[in-house]
Order: sequence, then C-alpha cells, then structure tokens
Amino acid sequence: MTSMYEKRVFSSRLLSCLIAISMFFLILSCSLLFRVGDNSLVPRSIYNLIVVDRGSIEPESDSGSNPVKAAGSCDPNQAVLKVFMYDLPPEFHFGLLGWTGSANQLWPNVGNFSEIPSYPGGLNLQHSVEYWLTLDLLSSLIPNVRRSCTAVLVHNSTQADVVFVPFFSSLSYNRHSKIEGTEGKSTNDILQERLVEYLNGQDEWKRFGGKDHVIMAHHPNSMLIARWRLGSAMFVLADFGRYSDEIANIDKDVIAPYRHVVRTVDANNSPSFEERPTLVYFQGAIYRKDGGVIRQELYYLLKDEKDVHFTFGSAGGGGIRKASTGMAASKFCLNIAGDTPSSNRLFDAIVSHCVPVIISDEIELPYEDLLDYSKFSIFVPASDACKNGYLINLLRGVKREKWTEMWENLKQIAPHFEYQYPTRPGDAVDMIWKMVSRKIDPLHYRAHRKNRYNMSQQFLNSR
Ligand SMILES: *[C@@H]1O[C@H](CO)[C@@H](O)[C@H](O)[C@H]1NC(C)=O
Ligand SMILES: *[C@@H]1O[C@H](CO)[C@@H](O)[C@H](O)[C@H]1NC(C)=O
Ligand SMILES: *[C@@H]1O[C@H](CO)[C@@H](O)[C@H](O)[C@H]1NC(C)=O
Repeated sequence: MTSMYEKRVFSSRLLSCLIAISMFFLILSCSLLFRVGDNSLVPRSIYNLIVVDRGSIEPESDSGSNPVKAAGSCDPNQAVLKVFMYDLPPEFHFGLLGWTGSANQLWPNVGNFSEIPSYPGGLNLQHSVEYWLTLDLLSSLIPNVRRSCTAVLVHNSTQADVVFVPFFSSLSYNRHSKIEGTEGKSTNDILQERLVEYLNGQDEWKRFGGKDHVIMAHHPNSMLIARWRLGSAMFVLADFGRYSDEIANIDKDVIAPYRHVVRTVDANNSPSFEERPTLVYFQGAIYRKDGGVIRQELYYLLKDEKDVHFTFGSAGGGGIRKASTGMAASKFCLNIAGDTPSSNRLFDAIVSHCVPVIISDEIELPYEDLLDYSKFSIFVPASDACKNGYLINLLRGVKREKWTEMWENLKQIAPHFEYQYPTRPGDAVDMIWKMVSRKIDPLHYRAHRKNRYNMSQQFLNSR
C-alpha cells in the first residue's frame, strides 16, 4: 500500500524532473538561437539584426560619430584566424582615398567612425572588398567596436596564421591607371612594382615563399604586373577569368562576392511571387567580347516575350536605381557571362531576392563549399540556354510553390553578401575570413607532411 506521503514525494519528484527537462530544452534552444555564426540555425528575427541596408558607402554608425559601446576587443586565442598585417605606407591603401594622417600615422583611427575615409561610390564599390577587410582587421584591436571576432590582428608574425597585404589594388587600377608626368608609368604600375620589391625583402615572405600571404586583387585587371611574381600567395578574387591556372586556382585562392550596387530588399517586405510582375530581368551591355556572345543570342530569343525585361543599359547613375526597382519586381534575374565569367549582377539579384538564373559555364561562386547555390539559383548550361524556347519554357515551368521555396532561401542567405563596418557574424567579411582559414589548413597539412622524416634524420645526424 502506498501512503499519501509516498505519493506526494513521487509527484514532487516528477515535477522537479519535468522542470529540469524543460530547463534543459530552454537552455538548448537559447544556445542554438545565439549561434549566429551558423546561419541555418538563426531565426528570421535575429537575421534582421544582421541585415543592414545603407545605400551609402559610409561606415555604419549607430549613434552619430560614436562607435557602438560594447564588449572588449577580441582575444586572439578565441579567433578563427590570427592575422599579421604589413605596415605599408598609406599610399598603398587609405592614401588612395585621399586620406592623410598626422606625421607617422599609417592608419586612420577606426574607433571613431567620422575619421574613417569613405570608399568612392558607383561601380568602384563592386570591388571594395579590400577596404572592408582592412577596416575589419584594424578594428579588431579596438575595445569599443562591436564586431564578430573571426579574424584578429596580431603584432608578432610568428604567431599569425596568415600575413595580410593591405594594398587597395582595385582602387589603384580604377583610379590611377593613367600615365601621368614624365615617368612613362602609371601610379598603379609603380605601386605594384614597389609592392613586389617590398614583399620579396620581407622575412615573412621568405618563410613560406609567400604561401601564407593574403593579397586582394578583386578587379579582374588589378595587379596585372605583380600577379606573375606573387602567384604563390592566396589571392582574393572575383573569378579566375583572366588568370592562368598556375597563378590562380581554387585550391589556394578565395572567391569574394562583388559588393552589390542595388539596394538590399528588406526580408520582411520582400515582394512575393504575385508581387513580381516581370518574369525575367536582364539589364546590361549586350555586345560583349569573349564569353559574352551568348548575351546577344539570348537577347534575340527573349526580346519579344511580353513579361521579359531585357535591355541595353549601363549601370551608371540612374541605371542603378532602375535596376533596384526592376530586380525587386522580377521573379528571375539573368546572370549571363560577360567579358569575365562573374559580374556584380548575381549579387544584385541575391539582395533583391530575385532568383538568379546563372548562364555562365566558367563561373566561380563565393563560399560554395559552405553554400549550396542550387537551393536558391537555377543553373543553365550556355549550350542549352541558346536553344529556341528552352529558357523561357524552363522558367515558365517553375510554379509558385517551388519559386517561393527558393525565395525563402534567398532571404536567408542574402546577409552573407553584405559588406559593412563594423563586421557582423555571417556577413561577407566574416565569410571571407572563414574561407581564408579553410585554405590555410591544407597548407599546414602539406608542411607537416614534409616534416615527417626530419626527426629521424636529425637523430641519425647527431650520432
Ligand atoms: C571623432 O572625430 C571627429 C572628426 O575628426 C571629431 O570631431 C570628434 O571629436 C571625434 N570623436 C571622438 C570621441 O574622439
Ligand atoms: C614573437 O613570438 C616568438 C614566438 O612566440 C618569440 O620568440 C619572439 O620573441 C616574438 N617576437 C617579438 C618581437 O615579440
Ligand atoms: C624537413 O625536411 C624537409 C625536406 O628536407 C624540408 O623541406 C623542411 O623544411 C624541413 N622542416 C623543418 C621544420 O626543418
């Protein structure tokens, strides 16, 4: 016979057991919620904190010119990547933006947002990855800048995983390629020659023959001179279109997204299937050399369809505004090979939540080992796309439900393509550092493998 007392004890035990179990799940769900680095686990509400749209290029500032007050700077031992950065003179980086510090000041004070020079707008912005990565490193040691702690600057190169070369090579190409004065050389050429000479003289470069160096060359024409002599380094690139396989390849280099030029569509107010009247959108130069012939063929195939927008037009000035509106009102956005396999159009489509249709057989995609692009894009081989009726039938065949699934995925992954300052978990800068760290591991692997027999050799020699 069970007494009243025993029953009460039993039920109170059951109760505390239940409480313990629910506490466990509460803590578990909280911890999942805050693993913001891993975006598949992040619910929409947290996402919105990550997404920022500023059509401007100024570093973001939450409260006037004052940086966000927050936790202390990163502990290098907690960071994914420890980075040593060369103290190159300003003419290689912020000096190209017209910045001049006080005497002997190499870097702007990134703790005060109003002291950070802004990057030129328009199409320059596409290749601005050099600016965002450098700012992020500089801010890693400043206690009052709240950022994700993926990469952190270290002052001793022997403790670093990689050596970062802060040369704004795309800006140098875009702004300083003209030959001026009597030298017969452009500033862009002179800077590259000086960079090669500088690096070859550094102990850090000699240590691994430059293999652990990160060099940014996002504009396809940047580093035209230096790339041949610095090819052992890890490049941050838009694609491999204008490189030979030995100089650049996916084993050692990192593909970074273009900085989109259209406005980011707010994930909470993104037009749905019915709210996007245009079936297919493309705006760009139609006559292109190399792989671009296909643009012309597609133009003739699609131009008479009533819900297709396919026009000539440059992205300058009003073009960008029109593209923002046009892409956000379209279900599919074409990304067709131009004179290089990649273009900013793909990233414009992603932030417009317009399902990308990728017709570019040689394209390389950023962070493809972390993201499955087929979940939010449609790939069409160039040879098929040019068949009469193929593309239009394919896209008309994508029904509301399937399209909406891809659109939901686009809204989820779009924050991975935002460049901003300060960096946030899962944004473009954060993702690029993660990619760099993944390239470093095989480097270590090969170096360790080479050491296998060194010890026994040493013992033999010491006999
Ligand atoms: C930030 O920089 C601006 C412009 O140089 C200056 O006026 C302001 O006093 C600075 N703020 C702080 C907190 O140092
Ligand atoms: C850098 O670190 C190495 C190894 O940790 C140490 O031997 C060396 O003295 C350090 N150099 C400086 C300048 O602190
Ligand atoms: C070990 O030996 C290999 C091959 O001789 C050499 O390349 C490597 O640098 C050596 N490693 C060390 C740590 O001395």
